[in-house]
Amino acid sequence: MVSWDGSQGNDAAEEPTISAEQERRERELTERVVDSFEGTPDPRLRVVMQALTRHLHAFIREVRLSEQEWQAGIEFLTRAGHITDDRRQEFILLSDVLGASMQTIAVANPAQGAATEATVFGPFFVEGSPHIALGGRIAHAAAGEPCWVSGTVSGTDGTPVAGARIEVWQADAEGFYDVQYPGEHLDGRGHMFTDSEGAYRFWGLTPTPYPIPHDGPVGDLLEATGRSPVRAAHLHFMVTAPGHRTLVTHIFDADDPQLALGDCVFGVKDSLIERFDRQPAGTPTPDGRDLGDNTWSRVHFDIVLAAEHL
Ligand code: BEZ
Ligand code: FE
Repeated sequence: MVSWDGSQGNDAAEEPTISAEQERRERELTERVVDSFEGTPDPRLRVVMQALTRHLHAFIREVRLSEQEWQAGIEFLTRAGHITDDRRQEFILLSDVLGASMQTIAVANPAQGAATEATVFGPFFVEGSPHIALGGRIAHAAAGEPCWVSGTVSGTDGTPVAGARIEVWQADAEGFYDVQYPGEHLDGRGHMFTDSEGAYRFWGLTPTPYPIPHDGPVGDLLEATGRSPVRAAHLHFMVTAPGHRTLVTHIFDADDPQLALGDCVFGVKDSLIERFDRQPAGTPTPDGRDLGDNTWSRVHFDIVLAAEHL
């Protein structure tokens, strides 16, 4: 087998035959490393490091990892480190394309009644987004079709949550977030608070599919494995309210053809697919905003927050 970095390796499909002595040596090494963590003062760290050791060693043994492949893995991680800075986070991308982010989210957000499902955070959230009044705009210079987004925030018992903080962020029609452009200008993001009835509303942009940054090692990995870097069109939300579990999620566009082709970070859940109703040019807007000759869309998304502690 030739691996993605061009080096020769073993074909994991062929069952390697290992002598009893070889098997004993490999298992003995694993146990020694597991035992080395036995004295870890933090019990949780001990559990995590011992399980990590067992699974990592099992992986190496299962694929009969060659030394060239191990070296290629180290070089891959080194490249990921070198390309990472305050604006580019290659390790999050790696976790995302491996489904590790979504698996962690699944474990950390157990189902609770009608609570809205969580999905991937992604690398493009930034602290310090502008506050916008209800009904305000999050996109200013960012290109795209205006989209009226409205809904409510409630608890699992249906009680409206007033004063919930809603952070929203999205890519523009070119498929880029503000932080991917040079300069410090924030656009396509903002936060607002629900009113006394738990309602929210704002103008965003109709989301479009876009590729995750794929000019680095994660992009090379996707290319070598025949996978697409494209994310289904979505709008990000993070909702926080006292007494409730913080919700990080998106909504996806039911009419997006990319939904059928897949989302490169496995973030789509059926319960998060919403209809973005396209409005012909000239259709009156809910707040009387004059959009001239532009088409626009509207979507309704009711958010249910899980209780923080049951
Ligand atoms: C995002 O949706 O912003 C995103 C998620 C995972 C990887 C890259 C981008
Ligand atoms: Fe995104």
